[in-house]
Amino acid sequence: MGIAILDHDKATVAILAEIIDEMGQTPYPFTDKDKFLGAISPTAHRAAVIAEDFADVIEGTKQVYQSIEILAMGTSGHDRCIQAGATGYLKKPFPAGDFRQALQALLLGPGSRPQSGNGSFIAADRSMQKIMEILRKVAPTQASVLIQGESGTGKEVIARYIHQHSKRAGGPYVGINLAAIPDTLLESELFGYEKGAFTGAYATRIGKFELADKGTILLDEITEISIGLQAKLLRVLQEKQIDRVGAKSSLHVDFRVIATTNRNIEQEIRDGNFRSDLYFRLNVIPIKVPPLQSRQNDILPLAAHFISKVAAREGMPEKALSPQAKDAFLSYSWPGNVRELENVIERSMILTDGPEITLDSVELGMGGSHETALGQPAVGTTIHEMEKNLICSTLQSVDGNRTRAASLLGISIRTLRNKLNEYAGKGQISDR
Ligand SMILES: Nc1ncnc2c1ncn2[C@@H]1O[C@H](COP(=O)(O)OP(=O)(O)OP(=O)(O)O)[C@@H](O)[C@H]1O
Ligand SMILES: [Mg+2]
Repeated sequence: MGIAILDHDKATVAILAEIIDEMGQTPYPFTDKDKFLGAISPTAHRAAVIAEDFADVIEGTKQVYQSIEILAMGTSGHDRCIQAGATGYLKKPFPAGDFRQALQALLLGPGSRPQSGNGSFIAADRSMQKIMEILRKVAPTQASVLIQGESGTGKEVIARYIHQHSKRAGGPYVGINLAAIPDTLLESELFGYEKGAFTGAYATRIGKFELADKGTILLDEITEISIGLQAKLLRVLQEKQIDRVGAKSSLHVDFRVIATTNRNIEQEIRDGNFRSDLYFRLNVIPIKVPPLQSRQNDILPLAAHFISKVAAREGMPEKALSPQAKDAFLSYSWPGNVRELENVIERSMILTDGPEITLDSVELGMGGSHETALGQPAVGTTIHEMEKNLICSTLQSVDGNRTRAASLLGISIRTLRNKLNEYAGKGQISDR
């Protein structure tokens, strides 16, 4: 893997190439923007060093290849470059040592890779590209972000991305899953406690907010906390002051908050389960991550990404998806979203012999059969109902393309048309 360099100045490029070479990495020097754009690729380049005059190149590269880390350099364009997607910025002129250090940090962390251990964030679908555009603007700011999306859509990956591309990237990133901790313990987990605050408090304990000082706190599954704790949380967010349980005075803490939920939070507010003032405080920047099924253009790139990841981890060759397996992936409903896709790929990579992952070796749906893909039908469902549901969801998954739906269903287009006419005639589907 190599490191691409782009600067107008030939001498600068040559010097940086030499340092990169000394670091045991392969340099790819460029002074021409178009040549750079024509060559850059995530399979050849792990990172790129780009001069600030090329903020548009930084942005374009990040847009297409999230996995390529970018170190920008220049005299006055720090904010512009970070906003465009650079992870770091070096002010010229800089000593070789600083450059080495910055590049090393970029390649190794801290926090330069998501906790899950997979470096890249795939966003090929238009809907995700739009989210990336927002993230690039929002990440460098101090704004609170509320990420909503079904389970497994990548909310934590997004939260980490925001932290890594913020000015707090060098500070701590502290996550807490609010659904996993009983309410009685949550307050001391979040705010800490003083020695002797209650029976069993033998020593002072630092809470998550304090740990996140100068960094980012991720409040995962925010809708799961009690109304009482919501009030306390609101105060903390407003005043940036925390009270350890049993403490006599407050402490100032400097944190940025990101919250996630896989529930419909607006509905939770209407039902009286979530405070609207807390919602407004958190929801400065709302990000709604679409389910995988509606991100058709992400499915195959994500599959390829997970294939490489498993191959690298297990030291096995990468495998290709057969055309039928690809079709099945594109039409499947992915109720478990990206997490499910990751599991399916991992299973098929391990269980398939030979260089190709065929449809036979792919098991979609938790139980491994195709019917669970559509949700296990309840006893009492008629064959007619099941057939109708299958036809409708297949059509939906291919954006209404009847030719593809018929081919996936293994029926003729004429049969498909007749069935749809029949349902429409009985008023069972609204439009056809
Ligand atoms: N865009 C993406 N690119 C690469 N990997 C991804 C992407 N989105 C999700 N993943 C991977 O899918 C898995 C699930 O993602 P994540 O944990 O972020 O989901 P989540 O929305 O937080 O789910 P939950 O609501 O269940 O907590 C992780 O292993 C993550 O690395
Ligand atoms: Mg999560």
